Amino acid sequence: MPAVTRGAPLDRVMRPIHEWVWADNDRRVRKLLTFADVETDGGRDILRAAEMTPDPLLRRLYLEHAIDELHHGDLFRERGAALFRARQRARRVMLSGNPLPGGHGLDDLRIDGQPDRTLLAFLHVAEKAAARRFALYRELVDDDPQTRVIFEEILRDEVFHMNYTYKQLTRIAPGDYRRHVWHARARRLWNRYLRVAAAFTAVFGGVALTVMYFVLLPPFAWLAKRSQRREQSGWMPLPRARQDASQRSQY
Ligand SMILES: [Fe+2]
Ligand SMILES: [Fe+2]
Repeated sequence: MPAVTRGAPLDRVMRPIHEWVWADNDRRVRKLLTFADVETDGGRDILRAAEMTPDPLLRRLYLEHAIDELHHGDLFRERGAALFRARQRARRVMLSGNPLPGGHGLDDLRIDGQPDRTLLAFLHVAEKAAARRFALYRELVDDDPQTRVIFEEILRDEVFHMNYTYKQLTRIAPGDYRRHVWHARARRLWNRYLRVAAAFTAVFGGVALTVMYFVLLPPFAWLAKRSQRREQSGWMPLPRARQDASQRSQY
């Protein structure tokens, strides 16, 4: 079983950003709790895959995999909660900040209607990404031995998941397993692109509205104030013609 000891090339390039994220305790807590949700959701989805597959060996492997993911969710949640409680005692404010996506990628998983070959290819790609990401995170939490131990334990499981999914894919699709893996990579890349595009659109929309607020509204506000200054204050007598017209129209 090959070991994963280094992060992916892109993650190594983005290492300063990852360091910035993990250096702050509040962001660390938020990341751990986000991972907990992703792992638990992934575990439930793989449990569903175990129910659906007609292959007895895959059913057993999916079941073990699901138990691992649910356990990872518990480990992350407990550690995140412990750090949060420790932090709350020191300071009662939790800053928001989650600029990078979760490590696993199981949040894109769809089970119903997926054949095992598609599912295994997706899981292999997601697990490989998770193993590389967690290998990097393990280094970034050197100052926090308990969190580092959790990453080490989870990394071992993710490497096992990465390898068994690939091995099973070659068993059930010996002729075209590479095509399935490339297709899964392309889908993952596309989903990442959609997320980045949605985040960019949200930021761009906010900036555009702010610019409109400060550039387009002031002239109208100035015109409104100018016409307000021209108005006389208090009660004003109506012109004679309008007084007569209003009295006639009343009856
Ligand atoms: Fe996991
Ligand atoms: Fe996993």
